[in-house]
Amino acid sequence: MVTTVGIAGASGKLGRLVAAALLRLPSPPTLRLYVRDASKLPSWLSSSPHTVITGGADDRAATVEFARGCNVVICTYLGPDALMEEGQKVLIDACAEAGVPRYVASDYTVDYRPLKDGELFPKDPMRHVMAYCNDKAGVEGVHVMIGAFMDTWWSGFFGAWVPDESGKGGKLRYWGSGDEAWEVSSYENTAEWIARVAVDGEAKGVEKFLGDRKNIHQIAAAMSSVYSFTPSLEPLGSLADLHATMHQKRDSEPENYYAYLPMWYQYYMLNGSTLLVPPGSSAEKELSNNRYPDVKAVTFEDYLRMYSPKELSGAMMGIGEKAGK
Ligand SMILES: NC(=O)c1ccc[n+]([C@@H]2O[C@H](COP(=O)([O-])OP(=O)(O)OC[C@H]3O[C@@H](n4cnc5c(N)ncnc54)[C@H](OP(=O)(O)O)[C@@H]3O)[C@@H](O)[C@H]2O)c1
Repeated sequence: MVTTVGIAGASGKLGRLVAAALLRLPSPPTLRLYVRDASKLPSWLSSSPHTVITGGADDRAATVEFARGCNVVICTYLGPDALMEEGQKVLIDACAEAGVPRYVASDYTVDYRPLKDGELFPKDPMRHVMAYCNDKAGVEGVHVMIGAFMDTWWSGFFGAWVPDESGKGGKLRYWGSGDEAWEVSSYENTAEWIARVAVDGEAKGVEKFLGDRKNIHQIAAAMSSVYSFTPSLEPLGSLADLHATMHQKRDSEPENYYAYLPMWYQYYMLNGSTLLVPPGSSAEKELSNNRYPDVKAVTFEDYLRMYSPKELSGAMMGIGEKAGK
């Protein structure tokens, strides 16, 4: 039985949401929280019965102290490759030393397994961490895959949703034919699934969940059905054009990371190579949504009903602050 859950990176947006989701369970576990700066934790998390352990991602002694007594450790780190790879390996080593049988990796993304090193490059550390877990005696890796965050999708990161100045309308921009699927899940939905997986000792290996899966025409239709306007659609070019543009951007301005990173994500999602439900398969076969029927998948329509068109692109701001309230 899972009675104590560790969260590394608990001060972040997803970390706080996962903590709040765990504390809403019918039998909430006790939490052990690993952060580099305890002052960033809200008071509802930093007080008894929970325990806060402070330390850096490379602090082996502190990570072992953190892991001791946990039934499972969840990582929600987000940062440079060194954090995502070496920092996670330190946590996995700590789990092995402290006798923690399961480690939920800081994935929460597309299915990166078919990729090769250098393709969708931010996912290279995740594949290496998965291999490290597979080789680590005594610690089972758990890899929660959810596509892109719905909140990120609307935020402007991908440049897909462009609101107009009136705040009452806007346009959807897209690469490809327009028939390619976007697979997305909200932060909140993802946290609920992570919490269920954490307390379910049977959940091991890859666990895929999805809020929704729609192409750009279906997303436009969802907007029409929820709001009083139909967004216009602006094609940006083929997937081959996207591939050429993203390489050209990176080659010409390698330090301007956010000018090209979203394009790389977009290319490797829309070209079908990282889909959670690949062509020829089915949601029933691939997804674990039905295992936890009390968690309702948040669809595009559900998400749009939560925000006005004006609020959509800013909805991601303050996500972590809302957790626990
Ligand atoms: N699928 C998607 O579209 C998508 C989008 C975004 C994120 N994600 C995934 O979601 C997870 C968490 O994302 P998030 O948005 O919650 O990130 P976040 O809000 O930026 O939180 C990141 C956490 O990592 C910690 N951290 C950063 N650098 C660190 C370092 N050098 N040493 C120790 N801790 C460090 C932060 O600590 P401080 O509070 O001290 O800074 C914070 O607790 C990641 O697995 C990420 O891959 C997925």
